[in-house]
Amino acid sequence: MDLSYVLIVVITKCLLFSAASGQQDKSEGCPSPGFTLNGTIVVPRSGISPDFSSLSEVKFPAHLPSPSPVNDEKAIVPSSDAPSRVCKIKCIAGQWVGPLCQESNGDGRFQPILKSCILDELPPNVILSFKNQIILELNTTIPHNHTISARCQEPIGTFKLNGPSILNCSNGVWSSPIPKCQPTTLFTNYTENSPPTILVRVPSGSAAVDQNGGLVVFPGSILHLECLYLRRHGDPVWTWTSEAETYLAGWAIGNEERNWKYRLSIYYVKHFDSGTFTCTTPRGINNTISLRISDIHCKPVPSMDLSLHLNYRASGHRLGQTAYFNCPPGFFLKGPANITCLPSGEWSNEPPVCIMVKCPPISVDDSRLIMIEYNNTYGKRAVFKCAWGFQMSGENSIQCMEDSTWSHQIPTCTEILCPTPVIPLNGILIEDSAPEKHVVGSVVQFSCGERHQMIGKASIMCMENGTWSHSPPYCKARCEYPGEPTNGRIIPLKFWYAPGDKLKITCLTGYVLPLPTEASPPVCLNNGTWSFPLPKCIQYTNV
Ligand SMILES: *[C@@H]1O[C@H](CO)[C@@H](O)[C@H](O)[C@H]1NC(C)=O
Ligand SMILES: *[C@@H]1O[C@H](CO)[C@@H](O)[C@H](O)[C@H]1NC(C)=O
Ligand SMILES: *[C@@H]1O[C@H](CO)[C@@H](O)[C@H](O)[C@H]1NC(C)=O
Ligand SMILES: *[C@@H]1O[C@H](CO)[C@@H](O)[C@H](O)[C@H]1NC(C)=O
Ligand SMILES: *[C@@H]1O[C@H](CO)[C@@H](O)[C@H](O)[C@H]1NC(C)=O
Ligand SMILES: *[C@@H]1O[C@H](CO)[C@@H](O)[C@H](O)[C@H]1NC(C)=O
Ligand SMILES: *[C@@H]1O[C@H](CO)[C@@H](O)[C@H](O)[C@H]1NC(C)=O
Ligand SMILES: *[C@@H]1O[C@H](CO)[C@@H](O)[C@H](O)[C@H]1NC(C)=O
Ligand SMILES: *[C@@H]1O[C@H](CO)[C@@H](O)[C@H](O)[C@H]1NC(C)=O
Ligand SMILES: *[C@@H]1O[C@H](CO)[C@@H](O)[C@H](O)[C@H]1NC(C)=O
Repeated sequence: MDLSYVLIVVITKCLLFSAASGQQDKSEGCPSPGFTLNGTIVVPRSGISPDFSSLSEVKFPAHLPSPSPVNDEKAIVPSSDAPSRVCKIKCIAGQWVGPLCQESNGDGRFQPILKSCILDELPPNVILSFKNQIILELNTTIPHNHTISARCQEPIGTFKLNGPSILNCSNGVWSSPIPKCQPTTLFTNYTENSPPTILVRVPSGSAAVDQNGGLVVFPGSILHLECLYLRRHGDPVWTWTSEAETYLAGWAIGNEERNWKYRLSIYYVKHFDSGTFTCTTPRGINNTISLRISDIHCKPVPSMDLSLHLNYRASGHRLGQTAYFNCPPGFFLKGPANITCLPSGEWSNEPPVCIMVKCPPISVDDSRLIMIEYNNTYGKRAVFKCAWGFQMSGENSIQCMEDSTWSHQIPTCTEILCPTPVIPLNGILIEDSAPEKHVVGSVVQFSCGERHQMIGKASIMCMENGTWSHSPPYCKARCEYPGEPTNGRIIPLKFWYAPGDKLKITCLTGYVLPLPTEASPPVCLNNGTWSFPLPKCIQYTNV
């Protein structure tokens, strides 16, 4: 038994199992029927006999596509929107048979479900529709006894439909193969073997294409049907089914068209011009356009429900006429920029609405970044600053632009750091308030080593622009006053001596230096020491 078509059935949440009392087939029961619900095996509700072998019939409600067309049913794919119907399967000789289902509006008889068709190809340039909706997805399911319609891609007359325009699904099989759209002379370099292109021109009046690919023209319009064929290959022939006896037909007159446009013109079309118009080439290859004259009017634009701020321009509201919309600056158009009055008497779309341009809202969750002005409507700004000690990268002011984006990215704030200060030679850093990194406001202090004097500031601070308040100091060597030499004096007499300073030693009366020092006096060295200890003045009698 094949239950495969049950797989597309969406069974209601609770399965109702009912035993058909007294009709049990005592010899052989059936196994669990193995229903799948959305692809998952369904087990019977608890409390209900799971022993299927004692059941001869299972009834259950199911949502499934009706075998007969259901009016106003929008869904293409069977869905839980489909009406609920009672179905049953029967146990016959150990096998489940069915299901049979009651027609939702039928006489209560149980009938087999017939298979749906799967559309497994969408040929190029062919437009297939089901219930007036264009089929866009491969593997769309069409229920039994439903039809799809086929037409060629627009502009009409540029492809020829080879095959029927209506296909019927009958128990999983299409009434005929999916038709193909054959390119016409416009696409084939005017080869004689292709059907002629038929171009439609409406120099005055209006026209539109209906959902079956037919041309619908407003009465009183002027219509040209141009059959594209190379004149040197011979003259095509126009034929028609409308009631009119004759139409003006012949090669176009203009220099650039006269060799390839065989034109049929209808001036001030009237209702009796409705019919099909066929252009046949000398080789007998034809292409057809169907024409319907209809004085359709859509709702006038001003009477429509128009959004505030919406501007429109429309030449009228007749079949084929278009209304154009726009919004003032600071608003954007949501919806179509233009709508056309369709042969159905409806506009091709609802009119659009004007929506105030808004940029994505900004919320700052970074304590370093401060938003000081904010409005995210068109033309307004968001202005930022950074917390003290931080500097901004990016723009501090960003503007909401017409396309609902901000002119620049939200800026970021980074900590301002001063460079590690240079420690002076022969000096040390005695205090650093933030040794790892020198943030704004941090202070470092220096001192100089022994026999060195600090030149500059002993402490410097990291400033808001990332520089130190002062350059680090430097340590300059100096020699200490060496003390009074015994029995003598030194010149000059200072607390500190700079490197290179020389001492002149004079002895008291009666004392002399053991060695004269005029030639090489004690000198203050670059490391702050004296070149040699002060000599002593000794009694001249001891020399
Ligand atoms: C079946 O699947 C559809 C789509 O995934 C879901 O909407 C629906 O709720 C499911 N039905 C049940 C009974 O789980
Ligand atoms: C098929 O559909 C047609 C028209 O839509 C209807 O009249 C007919 O009864 C249906 N046939 C079956 C077998 O359901
Ligand atoms: C359509 O169905 C066929 C066969 O089941 C599968 O191979 C293919 O991937 C399906 N295509 C899409 C688009 O789902
Ligand atoms: C589809 O084909 C079936 C069987 O060939 C036929 O009974 C039914 O009337 C057709 N339905 C339509 C809508 O053409
Ligand atoms: C059409 O004809 C022109 C001139 O003969 C040639 O250059 C061109 O390649 C042809 N194009 C195609 C698609 O055959
Ligand atoms: C167009 O050509 C097809 C196939 O050659 C033919 O069956 C059909 O009758 C022709 N149509 C007209 C209106 O001549
Ligand atoms: C109508 O609007 C569509 C987009 O919605 C655009 O592609 C098309 O060019 C417009 N037509 C005219 C005549 O402005
Ligand atoms: C932003 O600016 C618009 C236009 O000026 C104004 O209408 C709106 O009230 C402002 N929004 C805020 C939150 O200030
Ligand atoms: C940093 O700021 C100080 C004081 O505000 C100023 O004297 C100094 O020139 C600035 N340095 C730089 C590199 O801008
Ligand atoms: C200072 O320099 C002199 C000569 O270079 C050297 O002899 C002496 O040891 C140095 N003194 C100190 C304390 O480094």
